[in-house]
Parts: sequence; C-alpha cells; structure tokens
Amino acid sequence: MKIAVLGTGYVGLSTGVCLSEIGHRVTCIDINEQKIQQLNQGISPIYEPGLEKLLASNMEAGRLRFTTSLSEGITGAEIIIIAVGTPQADDGAADLSYLEQAAKDLSPNLVQGSIVVIKSTVPVGTNDSIKKLIESYTGFKIHMISNPEFLRQGSAIQDTMKADRIIIGSENKEMAEKVKAMYRPLDVPVIVTSTRSAEMIKYASNAFLATKISFINEIANLSEAVGADVEDVAKGMGMDKRIGKAFLKAGIGYGGSCFPKDVKALLHTAGQMGMNFGLLKETIAINEFQRELLLKKAVKRFGDLQGKKIAILGLAFKPETDDMREAPSINLAIALSKLGADTVAYDPVATENAKKIMGDTIKYANSIDEAITGADAVFLVTEWDIFKKHNLLAILEKMKQPIIFDGRNCLQEEKIKACRKIEYYPVGKPAIIIG
Ligand code: UGA
Repeated sequence: MKIAVLGTGYVGLSTGVCLSEIGHRVTCIDINEQKIQQLNQGISPIYEPGLEKLLASNMEAGRLRFTTSLSEGITGAEIIIIAVGTPQADDGAADLSYLEQAAKDLSPNLVQGSIVVIKSTVPVGTNDSIKKLIESYTGFKIHMISNPEFLRQGSAIQDTMKADRIIIGSENKEMAEKVKAMYRPLDVPVIVTSTRSAEMIKYASNAFLATKISFINEIANLSEAVGADVEDVAKGMGMDKRIGKAFLKAGIGYGGSCFPKDVKALLHTAGQMGMNFGLLKETIAINEFQRELLLKKAVKRFGDLQGKKIAILGLAFKPETDDMREAPSINLAIALSKLGADTVAYDPVATENAKKIMGDTIKYANSIDEAITGADAVFLVTEWDIFKKHNLLAILEKMKQPIIFDGRNCLQEEKIKACRKIEYYPVGKPAIIIG
C-alpha cells in the first residue's frame, strides 16, 4: 500500500518506519525542514533503539521517504495517517491546534473518499470534529478512522511490531477493513470499535496504567512505614493474573509526554461532562508527591542540604530515551537548587535536552565518575543499565559520604549488603545501613 504519515515525532516516525518494514511504501511528511533533511540522510532526530537501523534499510529498499511537501506525500496515498502532537494546554485539556493545522494543510491534497487516520492521542469526539473540519475545507466527504497507538518510548519498534492489540475506530466497516489490511502482516489481534470508543480506549489505558503506578507507589510508602518490602508485595500481587505484574514498579513517579498529560486531559473531559473523576485526581496527587520523594528522604537524613554535593544519576524520564518531558529529575533539580545544594547530574543521552529545560539550575557531568566524585549523596533517578552495572564499590570510594537514595530500586541488594560502609535508601523497603 502507499501510505502517507504526517508528523515525524516518536509516534509518526516509529509508525512510518514499521509500516515500511512490513512492505508498504511510506512517505513521512513534516513541516520541519531540518528534521526532514536529517532523516533523508538516515539520521534519526530522536534516540530510539533500533530505529536508525530500520530507517536505513527501508530507505535503501526504496520503501521509505521523507518530505516537507504535503502534495508529494499525499497524492496517491491509500491511507493518510496523522501523528502530530497533542500537547497539554494551560487548562489541562489536549491542545488540538497542531491537529487542526494539519487537517487544514492536508485538505487540498485529498480526494473524495480519502481515508484519514488519526493516530495522535485525542479527546473523545475529536475524530468527528476533525472530519467535519476537513470536509468544510474540501467540500466533499472523507473517511475518518481513529487508530490510537500504544507504543512506549525506548521500545517503540518492538511495541509496534509486536503490539498486544490494534484498535480501529470507524463508523464504516469497509474502511475499517482497509486499515486492518494495512496491519495484516503484523499478525496482531485487531478490535474494531466506534471512533469514540477507540479514542476512549487510548485514554482509559494510559490513565489505568498511571493509576496502577500511583497505587503501587502509595503501597510502597505504606510498606516503608510498616516495615514491608514493596518489591515482594508487587511480586506477590502481580502473580495474580487478574492484577498482572507489569507497571507495578514503585519509584519516583511516572513522567514522559503521555501519562501526565493524558491523565489530565481525561480529567478535563470528565469535568466537561460534569463528572468528578476523583480517582484520577488522587493518581496525579500521589505522583506529584512521589516526584520529590528522594528530596524528602535526603532532608530527613541531612537536615539541611545547603552546600551538600548531590549527584543525580539519570535525567531522562525513563531509560532508553533522551526525552526530558515531565521527567521527575526536573522537579528534583529545581528543588535541590532552591535548598542550596550543589547538584551535578549525569545522563548517558538526555543531557543536551535537559540543558534546554534546566539551563544552569544544576551542573552537568560527562561521566558517572565526574558526577559522583566528592558527592555527599547520589540520587538514582533513571534506571539506565550502565548505572545498574557500574562498580558500586568504585562509586562509594569516590564519594565524600557513601549515601545513595535509589529512586528506582535498581541496585542489587546483595551488592549493597556486601559493602563495608554504605547508607542505602530505596523506595518502599527498609533502608540498609552498614558501617
Ligand atoms: C506510555 C504507554 O505505556 C504507551 O502504551 C503509550 O502508547 C504511550 O504512553 C503514549 O501514550 O504515547 P511511555 O510514556 O513511552 O508510554 O512510557 P512508559 O514505559 O509507559 O513509562 C511511563 C512512565 O511510567 C515512566 O516515567 C516510567 O518510569 C514510569 N513507570 C512505568 C513506573 O514508574 N513504574 C512502572 O512500573 C512502569
């Protein structure tokens, strides 16, 4: 099939690359010329494992192209996928301005009966309103399909190629079949629903996962208070198939470009309908509390953080991404700076993006060693593999005081217990203090 994808962010790019990998001829379109130039040279503008390899092989095979020209990309396309961003507006609602602009821009290139698929995360009813908007520009009917994505940053390719399910929201069975056919080589279960149900499935899924994380974080805080170990609790809970073990990892809260904004957008929709979705409010409140957990623990331990050297290990909102959006590290860095701590951070890939957000609020190191040397405490913020694998004894030796606050419970307990002198403060389980 010939397919056009509008928007080359995480979703658009991963989708475009994966669709070309399963044999379609894909043209990805973006208004950002610099990005398109980069992509045409086979360089991915985002850090996403496996993406560049597929980018290169599919471009070489002639199945994947990039352009800034809508007419070049859309003309002759059997399916047009919109994957532009829907960031959070000031009132918590989803900001649909990029989507509305895309709808306007692509309209002159459509023909009667064109199939337009919205992959961006959009509030219930958006597919209907964008269809009306496009038809007001074209003067003829088009088909609108809701096809939300469930890929995670850091495993976007794997999540797309081996998805748990594909949701196709359509009021027209024949058109739903066409979109289904596009995905057939993936051999993934497909559910066809109304567009409104498809839109809701996306929000309900993200809000549920965020709630699951806040739930386990609150259990972690309670476990800590009563002397239980949240890791064992989560394991015991997760073995019940009705609960499931995924997304029960306690830590310093969820971040990223999706959960925080989607929970708020769903809450906003509920508010518009006169509903008080208190569960979501609590999910958000717990997450806010959790983001500063390491700081609270450090204040409890040190009393005053003025002049203390704190090494932050990990800045990205999660490993395997350079994305800093809504990263808990931002809250921590700002709060540490306010308390007068001398903060130095190291992240293997997200430092440049972090600098754009945090500027000189904190200092940035080029290696783990540089960050930890002379530190009074380490804040482990993102569970990158290199932190887990780094020689713990070597870290402790270089620190002024061997104190670690592990916000992701990612260091192995046996290794900690083998140390001669350490203070280790995890989340939701007893601290280990030796020497
Ligand atoms: C999330 C969803 O998982 C995807 O299914 C969805 O497609 C995507 O949002 C989206 O809407 O585009 P993503 O934000 O990339 O994906 O990352 P996740 O792996 O879900 O992690 C989100 C946050 O939750 C991270 O900050 C992570 O550290 C945190 N988390 C995750 C926990 O604190 N505990 C867990 O057990 C799992």
